[in-house]
Amino acid sequence: MRQALRFVLALVVGLALLTWGASVLVFRTTRTWFERDMQLRAELAVSGGREALAARWAAGQNGELLKVLLTLSRDERVLGAAACDPDLRLRARTSAYPPPLECARFGAHVRPTPDSPALAWTSWAQVFSVPGGQVHATAVPVIDGDRALGFAVLVHDLSFVERREATTRRFLAGAFGLLALLASVVTVVAARMSWRGWSDELRRLIRGGKARPEFRPFLRDVRDLVERLAAEREADGLGGLWTPQRLKNTLSRHLHGERVVIVANREPYVHQRTPEGGVEVVHPASGLVTALEPVMRACSGVWVAHGGGSADRDTADARGRLHVPPGEKSYVLRRVWLTPEEEKGYYYGFSNEGLWPLCHIADNRPVFRVEDWRAYQEVNRRFADAVTQEVDSDDPILLVQDYHFALLPRMLRERLPRATVITFWHIPWPNSERFGICPWREELVSGLLGSSILGFHTQFHCNNFLDGVDRFLEARIDRDQSAVVHQGQWTLVRPYPISIEWPSGWLQSAPPVAECRAAVFRELGLAEDALLGVGVDRLDYTKGIEERLLAVERLLERSPELRGRFTFVQLAAPSRTIIPEYRRLNEEVERVAARVNARFATDSYRPVILKRAHHEPPTVFRYYRAADVCYVSSLHDGMNLVAKEFVSARDDEMGVLVLSHFTGAARELTEALSVNPYDLEEASSALAAALAMPRDEQRDRMRAMRALVAEFNVYRWAGRMLVDAARLRRRERLAGRLSRRIDNEIEAPA
Ligand code: F6P
Repeated sequence: MRQALRFVLALVVGLALLTWGASVLVFRTTRTWFERDMQLRAELAVSGGREALAARWAAGQNGELLKVLLTLSRDERVLGAAACDPDLRLRARTSAYPPPLECARFGAHVRPTPDSPALAWTSWAQVFSVPGGQVHATAVPVIDGDRALGFAVLVHDLSFVERREATTRRFLAGAFGLLALLASVVTVVAARMSWRGWSDELRRLIRGGKARPEFRPFLRDVRDLVERLAAEREADGLGGLWTPQRLKNTLSRHLHGERVVIVANREPYVHQRTPEGGVEVVHPASGLVTALEPVMRACSGVWVAHGGGSADRDTADARGRLHVPPGEKSYVLRRVWLTPEEEKGYYYGFSNEGLWPLCHIADNRPVFRVEDWRAYQEVNRRFADAVTQEVDSDDPILLVQDYHFALLPRMLRERLPRATVITFWHIPWPNSERFGICPWREELVSGLLGSSILGFHTQFHCNNFLDGVDRFLEARIDRDQSAVVHQGQWTLVRPYPISIEWPSGWLQSAPPVAECRAAVFRELGLAEDALLGVGVDRLDYTKGIEERLLAVERLLERSPELRGRFTFVQLAAPSRTIIPEYRRLNEEVERVAARVNARFATDSYRPVILKRAHHEPPTVFRYYRAADVCYVSSLHDGMNLVAKEFVSARDDEMGVLVLSHFTGAARELTEALSVNPYDLEEASSALAAALAMPRDEQRDRMRAMRALVAEFNVYRWAGRMLVDAARLRRRERLAGRLSRRIDNEIEAPA
């Protein structure tokens, strides 16, 4: 209704403008015609009375001349007439002739110079304003033989033209008004009728009716959307935020409570032997674990992972199984044992020296060795076997995680053809030119296309993947559906931006912000009025840690008042340290930190504090809560969950996030201060702005980011994939039933 009103208003305004424009044009044109017409009439009248005029003029009979002028001005539109001598003296004029129109006003136009020959004289007309309104005066030369006697002026009253214009204006306004009304009514009625037609047709189609051809292109999209909305709304009847309970309800309602089996290289709980001979549980520094562990706690099932902890074998049963989380036992962790050679080739080699640099734009060359590739294939097979042992039906729901398992989806599809395989790629997917440098690119893409659903963080990475398929594989790409059909099997390729649990489990046990701040400041030896920046990462070259420290250095160069006051603490978990590139990074980060400290440190002040060690989540949360600013400077990052964790840790709504725009998170957390980490001027300015940001602004920004992460939390991420998977399963089951029926019918007549 509001839209219809808006349309009618626009139509009326448009037509009013049109009316105005049209009337201006019409009046200008008709006015020109009228004026020409009056000039012509005046010339004709003078020419008709020329003989009489000439005779009286030459004889000097002014009284008689006046009579002729009265005859000329008998026409009701002629107001008056006058006769002027060549020297511009008035010879005679009728009583109504307007006195301001003296002969001198016409002279220069009618006779070019006082002694111009008769042939050079011309008539001339003009509109004048005189008391009482506008008049049109035409001066016409009176020629006798080759002698110019003077000129006669005929003055027309223009009020009749104005009267005509007013009538025309009224008529035009009425006509256009009527037209506007008619057009509005016809448009609104037509729009309503066609909208009703469309919505009736859509309703009929959604209920399963047969589609008319013009509806077919978007019918599937509409059905998908309706199903998704209905599924999300009906999942638990609660709506609102996604919670563990809502995810559980989704699973039981749409997937009949089926367990999920997750496969990820990294295990959520690592058992490590301590120097004292005991065993401790370590939570790995991994975005993947941060995201998926709460999902597993909500869904239950099995997490299949590489058992890499020094005490892992001692804490699992003979099949490598144990219940986790310790003390809670929500799900099963199934550990897969790898030999050091297998781990070297599959994890360090192909995954982290090959695929990792291949997928990240961070100026590191991928290394592809055939022995690493063999180990990668073999370990993917080993995990496929482990998964097959863990499933309890022939159509399980399998969640395959990350670049360590590109071949696994196809291996699982071969072993369990009816399985629903949801694969999520946690890192960026490169463009096909870059991806093309991998010697086993076809195998990788084909392996991933064993999945029912293949998820990336962003549409951009989905597009890169589809381009890669297009370039390197014989497959059909359905861009409308964002799907690939390869070897007769469909894979939906969709963006599912990953997130974290909300509210964070670690937050519940975290001390209040003031206590965290006091404790961290004490630990670091900072004064009460110090300013604290924090960075939390695995020591990885994609995280831009060197660039981060350089930005701190630039900040202290530019803002001397911050020297002695601002400290940046970097919690850096050592990672993949047997790879030379990572060892080099360790040294480089140390070197930059030492240099910045050498430049700006004093006896009681160190600008950069590098804590190179694994930190358990409670410590990390304490630092998040103590900091004034958190700087995430990734050079390229699929999502980056540190940014979201920092936001979740700040229930006091304070603290500023400075975020590289090369992270997936930057697309969602738009209230962070977004920077190019390579640009040290920009990054250091953002840090300065963050440290000076008024509390009100901090609150506004943090509040908006918290609302976003709360809504788009990891339960929603998992829920959306599971709902999509459920829909796919329903479709496949229906298609299976249909093809069985067709097979039976074909067999029956025989
Ligand atoms: O970003 C890719 C990723 O696998 C993350 O999912 C995870 O946080 C990180 O790398 C951990 O790496 P790793 O398991 O090699 O320590």
